[in-house]
Amino acid sequence: MQGLATLVAVQALPHTLRAAERPPWALGFEGVSEDLSPLAMKVAGDFPAPCRGALYRNGPALYARGGQRYQHWFDPDGMVQAFRIGEKGVEHQGRFVRTLRFEQEQRAGRFLHGGAGTNFENALPVRNNESTNVANINVQPLNGELLAMWEAGAAYRLNPDSLETLGTLEFDEDLKGVPFSAHPHFDEQGDLWNIGSVLFTRRPMLVLYHLGSNGRLKKSSAIPMDFPGYIHDFVLTPRYLVVLNSSSVMGEGRNFVDRLQWEPDRPSQLLVFDRADFSLRAKIEVPATFVFHFGNGWEEGGNIHFTACAYRNMDIVSVGMHRLARQEPGPYHDASELVRYSVSLARDAADVTPLGLDMEFPGYDTRRPFEAQMLSGAAGQGTANSRLASAVVRVDPRSGNSERYDYGEGMVVEEPLFVPGPDEGYLLHSFLDYRQSRSGIAVLKAGSLADGPVATADMDRVLPLGFHGCFLPA
Ligand SMILES: [Fe+2]
Repeated sequence: MQGLATLVAVQALPHTLRAAERPPWALGFEGVSEDLSPLAMKVAGDFPAPCRGALYRNGPALYARGGQRYQHWFDPDGMVQAFRIGEKGVEHQGRFVRTLRFEQEQRAGRFLHGGAGTNFENALPVRNNESTNVANINVQPLNGELLAMWEAGAAYRLNPDSLETLGTLEFDEDLKGVPFSAHPHFDEQGDLWNIGSVLFTRRPMLVLYHLGSNGRLKKSSAIPMDFPGYIHDFVLTPRYLVVLNSSSVMGEGRNFVDRLQWEPDRPSQLLVFDRADFSLRAKIEVPATFVFHFGNGWEEGGNIHFTACAYRNMDIVSVGMHRLARQEPGPYHDASELVRYSVSLARDAADVTPLGLDMEFPGYDTRRPFEAQMLSGAAGQGTANSRLASAVVRVDPRSGNSERYDYGEGMVVEEPLFVPGPDEGYLLHSFLDYRQSRSGIAVLKAGSLADGPVATADMDRVLPLGFHGCFLPA
């Protein structure tokens, strides 16, 4: 019941539209204002034994403070959710990441800084990345802890049992506060590889990171960029790191989102770096595109292959994510489409093959990061024209053949994660049932998705729609 009480409290804060004018899925952008203490969920079906453990998720959660409200999905403070799946039931807990910003603004009782896509009157000037870090994009394990990750500042360390914030991840004095993206990738040894893009300086730079599984820095490099394109994720292969410098380019404007300009005539750039020494091996022009997320990468026949959830422009950032956060009806933006890139270093060229699938949030078996393997994702962006996914999908990245389970209108499917298990394993995802005002999790057999979930757990608690997470087995 605490969740309902929280919702009532938050509804007193300002919105652009009256409740009756908001689309039904606006519930997922209401936000919460307090930590969510552990709550037993209502379980239907049996969660298979391999799914026992914890599903952790991160996402923007605190939308309003002191009579002001954020206007973009990028902006609200991050809350890490834990869904603990045990033999006796499923329990949910949510806790805000205690970033420097969160603590300062809690004390002040108001927003002190603007957001990536929101301007507030009387906002303080931004002195450094850490003063605006909301740690709201992803949560991943490292060295027995969790990292709550943003993309323009440091990652925050959390205790996986209590979700208590322990401090920022520090690995090098010279790299303090340098952007560290929310999409690290892990190799076979458990080493962490990451990027950070520095866009606000006169010379845009890309920073590459290689950390051991103990969180210590093994190497880093700062590489000048030809232009300051928006970069959110990258591809790791056995020998390379592939970065797509997108045609969404930093220009002038009132905030980060406003400054990003879509330049359809500027080709995007694939940058291929050698993992061994971070040297640039290739710079290849590809048709202008905007990508948040990539599937895993593999090398075959002398080429590098990977998939991407590609948008034909950056309306998702400049239009869709504003309207969703403002709880406005659409139209929002075009759906993303899964495409496959095949990069030839010998030819210095890349082929792009559309796979005809509206998919986002790609996932895979992280035990085999460098094999061509089935990808999972959230699809069905178009039900009720919300562009929020209503289906779980699994696709062969070579053929584009796919299978899906669509829950239909009323359900929002969040990032499905692969859980190893018998046969082809499982897909585990969180959801919002906005017709019933309930949030929950569901598990499906990966090999027979069309049969629908084998178990679900939900609750009288509406969670803000989030971005990414991880599953850690018990
Ligand atoms: Fe992301």
